[in-house]
Amino acid sequence: MTTPYGPDEIAALQEKAKRHLWLHFTRMSSYAEADVPVIVRGEGPYVYDQHGKRYLDGLAGLFVSQIGHGRTEVAEAAARQASELAYFPLWSYAHPQAIALADRLASLAPGDLNRVFFTTSGSEAVESAWKLAKQFFRTIGQPTKYKVLSRSIAYHGTSMGALAITGLPGIKEPFEPLPAGGVRVPNTNFYRAPEFVSADITAFGVWAADEIERAILREGPESVAAVFLEPCQNSGGCFPPPPGYFPRVREICDRYGVLLVSDEVICAFGRLGYYFGCERYGYQPDIITFAKGVTSGYAPLGGMLVSDRLMEPFSFRDRAAGGHEHHRQFHGAETAADGQHTFLHGVTFAGHPVSCAVAMANLDVFEKEDLLGNVRAREGAFRATLEKLTDLPIVGDVRGDGFFYGIELVKDKASRETFDDDESERLLRGFLSHALFDAGLVCRADDRGDPVIQLSPPLICTQEHFDEMEQILRHVLTAAWTKI
Ligand SMILES: Cc1ncc(COP(=O)(O)O)c(C=O)c1O
Repeated sequence: MTTPYGPDEIAALQEKAKRHLWLHFTRMSSYAEADVPVIVRGEGPYVYDQHGKRYLDGLAGLFVSQIGHGRTEVAEAAARQASELAYFPLWSYAHPQAIALADRLASLAPGDLNRVFFTTSGSEAVESAWKLAKQFFRTIGQPTKYKVLSRSIAYHGTSMGALAITGLPGIKEPFEPLPAGGVRVPNTNFYRAPEFVSADITAFGVWAADEIERAILREGPESVAAVFLEPCQNSGGCFPPPPGYFPRVREICDRYGVLLVSDEVICAFGRLGYYFGCERYGYQPDIITFAKGVTSGYAPLGGMLVSDRLMEPFSFRDRAAGGHEHHRQFHGAETAADGQHTFLHGVTFAGHPVSCAVAMANLDVFEKEDLLGNVRAREGAFRATLEKLTDLPIVGDVRGDGFFYGIELVKDKASRETFDDDESERLLRGFLSHALFDAGLVCRADDRGDPVIQLSPPLICTQEHFDEMEQILRHVLTAAWTKI
């Protein structure tokens, strides 16, 4: 079924969009002559524009639509909740959907990540995790710990704190000075590994993890609060961790009393075939930040899952345990619950009842349709299908895990020479982004690191969708090569 709008409606949409709407991270001038793409509806892994043209949503919107589009059972859950209780804050009050979702997320999360602090977005989740780290260390008598380590080219959000953690100089510069304390360490792009570890991925992983230790020592362990890492780094084009990387990072964090924050805004909720990306790579974080896939985009929601240990200073005596205080230790400091501390942070719409109801319905779909099982069963086929593209001269590397892949484009495969800024601009902005969309594929051509194409389809996809992606990419990348 298609839903073409009439010519007058289309013209009105274009005129109003160009006059009044401000698109995010978008050079608006590029729509001076061209039409603003307008997506009007979705069904399964496909979306449709105002002309009724169909696109395969190879990016799940923006790493969001895990269960695909047009699920009426999720929409109905939203409507039911809006009728019953559309809004009440989580400031001093609770509501049943937030309680149920917190309980469900805590039971899905690994280890002692038993406390959920909701937000409305990923940036707010990251911001909240940094604020919690800072306040936690103050309450346990280590007020000098405030710095945060993160990896180069990693994206962690756009609010000022999250931006200070983000490792993309190009999107930070207009907003300097940012909050102090953001420190960069190397990412895990093995394709661009330094020469001395480029032949051995395990040695590369040891080096990259040890760079975190060296940064902690350089900054002074007494000043470092947390390390923010994605399980598989998105920006730069999907950098999975080398074998042994995360266990070593965990050891380093424990050695210096530094919190390990797993930023799973993309990698949670099935993207890597598990509810949480850290499970796939076998490490236990102190905090998980999440957003996007928790609702599959049927309503906005984010949050952080926090370990019991970090919650302790903000908690109360456990009456069930006879009123005895817990005496947990954090790196030599006592974190006993004394009931005196409040996490001084909150946002109006965090844990919105409609969003929480939607998240519950979304997770029901995950269970009913075994979406994690689908990703695990088909990820090998997805990889194999994308790897067919390596016969093209422009495809340098295909990397990722689960339903999350990056394809790095190069000028010369043998030397791995990349494109200069001008070529990148012409290739990605001038040609690829539009050509892929025109050919019916939503994906992302990104040059925030080296030029890459990012794929992150809904978790319901099967071989026919992988083939469709491969064929469109083959066609467009072949054309791109003639334009260099
Ligand atoms: C790893 C990571 N952290 C944080 C964010 C910010 O999330 P939001 O756009 O919901 O603020 C993103 C967004 O893509 C992300 O990928």
